[in-house]
Amino acid sequence: MTSPILVTGGTGTLGRLVVARLRDAGRDVRVLSRSARVAPAGVELVNGDLTTGEGIDAAVDGVDVIVHCAGGPKGDDDKARHLVRAASKASSPHLVYISVVGADRVPVVGRIDRAMFGYFASKRAAELVVAGSGLPFTTLRATQFHELILIVARAMAKRPVIPAPAGFRFQPIDADEVAARLVELALGRPAGLVPDLGGPRIYPLTDLIRSYLQATGKRRPIVRVRMPGGAAAAIRNGSNLTPDRAVGRTTWEEFLADRLASSPTAPATGPRRLPEE
Ligand SMILES: NC(=O)c1ccc[n+]([C@@H]2O[C@H](COP(=O)([O-])OP(=O)(O)OC[C@H]3O[C@@H](n4cnc5c(N)ncnc54)[C@H](OP(=O)(O)O)[C@@H]3O)[C@@H](O)[C@H]2O)c1
Repeated sequence: MTSPILVTGGTGTLGRLVVARLRDAGRDVRVLSRSARVAPAGVELVNGDLTTGEGIDAAVDGVDVIVHCAGGPKGDDDKARHLVRAASKASSPHLVYISVVGADRVPVVGRIDRAMFGYFASKRAAELVVAGSGLPFTTLRATQFHELILIVARAMAKRPVIPAPAGFRFQPIDADEVAARLVELALGRPAGLVPDLGGPRIYPLTDLIRSYLQATGKRRPIVRVRMPGGAAAAIRNGSNLTPDRAVGRTTWEEFLADRLASSPTAPATGPRRLPEE
């Protein structure tokens, strides 16, 4: 009998896909969640909170591999610290961590940087916690998932006028392609920091929003806003992109057409033809 693989964040966008793929690979899976009460068939559920450390000893007990997908807009360094502390006391499992492209290149220095882009600093700090833990580890940096871009586009489209940070570009990737790579890494040997995973194309943010508006039959003016601060400057310079690692296959247009076809917000006639951006 093999020991279960712990997936933190196994209830989230990425983690759910990782869990499904590990199950397909025939592995026993344990999921850590703060509040979930029901797990999918064949999955063990442990409740705990990585921010407080509560329940984490039980979550890591007897696992050889942890896929650490739990995360949020802030505090991922503290989450990593609690996880590492518990794992180091247990069986020193292989810790597989998902970070973000640009974690090491988007400087978060001043007040504005911290308020708007603190996420990058907390991912970088978490990377360092993982790398300095003494545990065998693998860290993968990915670009933004399609789902996140969709959430942003939906939120922006609720405004009568859309303010879009000038010069921002994104390279969205399919979350299931990230999950597939994470599972491959989790079932392999610890590899340290591995090459980035980026989506197949790079788009100006304004184009991503426009294609969403067009696909949902909405009309909104977009106003470009210049964001202050060093982190925003780094993003304008493409520090959140990985053009040499554009290895993802599913495009934003394919994702959007597929998602909107099954969404109540899609136009009655179904998704419209998306622009060639
Ligand atoms: N989304 C992106 O574009 C993107 C890009 C690159 C990297 N990443 C990284 O990929 C990971 C997953 O992202 P996602 O978009 O799938 O996230 P998500 O859908 O927001 O899910 C977050 C997960 O983290 C868990 N979680 C949050 N705080 C926790 C805590 N204090 N203790 C225990 N569990 C906690 C949640 O579980 P419960 O609510 O059940 O407790 C949930 O399963 C994150 O580390 C993120 O930084 C994301």
